[in-house]
Amino acid sequence: MHPVIIAPSILSCDFVNIEPDLKVFEGEDNLWVHLDIMDGHFVPNLTFGSPIVKRISQITKLPLDAHLMVNNPEFHLEVMKDYGLANFTFHFEAVSNPVELLKKIKSYGIGAGISIKPGTPVNVLTDEILKHSDLILVMSVEPGFGGQSFMPNSLEKSKTLVKKRDYLSLNFQIQIDGGINEDTANLAKEAGVNNLVAGSYVFKAPERDFISRVNSIR
Ligand code: DX5
Ligand code: ZN
Repeated sequence: MHPVIIAPSILSCDFVNIEPDLKVFEGEDNLWVHLDIMDGHFVPNLTFGSPIVKRISQITKLPLDAHLMVNNPEFHLEVMKDYGLANFTFHFEAVSNPVELLKKIKSYGIGAGISIKPGTPVNVLTDEILKHSDLILVMSVEPGFGGQSFMPNSLEKSKTLVKKRDYLSLNFQIQIDGGINEDTANLAKEAGVNNLVAGSYVFKAPERDFISRVNSIR
């Protein structure tokens, strides 16, 4: 059984003030920093790339969770492999040989994650893919933007993944991303999700009380 992990997404941070925002979480257990890397091609939006990821890796000891919404995640893996990332998740829809990339990520000592968009059925994740994954990210919004509403079809997908994991005696984490708040977090945990990404819910907290928001979805 995996503990519940909360992964605040810096997409909703103040981008010119990331350091003080991240300091708030220093020393928290089971807390990852979620990095939404978008290339303007796989998704319409554009965020940041390796120079920013590198700097963030220098200013925090928290585990870094990179979510690559890009067309060529292989390229970015090669650039970022020495930054001490805890996890590197790419999109199933963006690659032709997911198993090969999962193996490559693991060979660098990084947790290997694969994600599916809301319109992608869960059964594209073959047993072979699941066997090589440390984490499956079920998108609960269309990737590209923070602050969207939770899509409930992610819950059925998560439940299917729990069954598959049991059946295959595997140990991957199940992560959900998009539209997470107190209510949707409960639904996700009931469906077997252990790793919850939250952007606007955490960083739009009154009086910057990010920790209370994190604790309310644990
Ligand atoms: C969306 C990103 C999410 C986003 C979540 O493409 O992958 O990580 O930051 O934002 P909220 O929690 O505001 O839906
Ligand atoms: Zn994300």
